[in-house]
Amino acid sequence: MSGAARLPGVDDRRDVVFTFDGERIVGKEGDTVAMAAWAASQQVLRNSSRDGTPRGVLCNMGICFECLVDVDGATVRACTTLVRDGMQVRRGGRP
Ligand code: FES
Repeated sequence: MSGAARLPGVDDRRDVVFTFDGERIVGKEGDTVAMAAWAASQQVLRNSSRDGTPRGVLCNMGICFECLVDVDGATVRACTTLVRDGMQVRRGGRP
């Protein structure tokens, strides 16, 4: 289980459990997928379809589309999608 980047006793929001490429991740209610993944040391959200280079959060405000991931079968921006219990996130959303 990941999520060790958070400081114990500082954040009292409810835990939200989801998977990222099959790995169980514990985020916090109100986190975006991007931030919960980042806190769990998962900075690579997809690989470029052009040259395979790793891509992650760039603008963090929904403009650049660098953070595309697959959530329960739909391609979404990780930086604008809030985590939900049980969601299945996979790298490599399609532009
Ligand atoms: S990081 Fe730019 S759209 Fe998500």
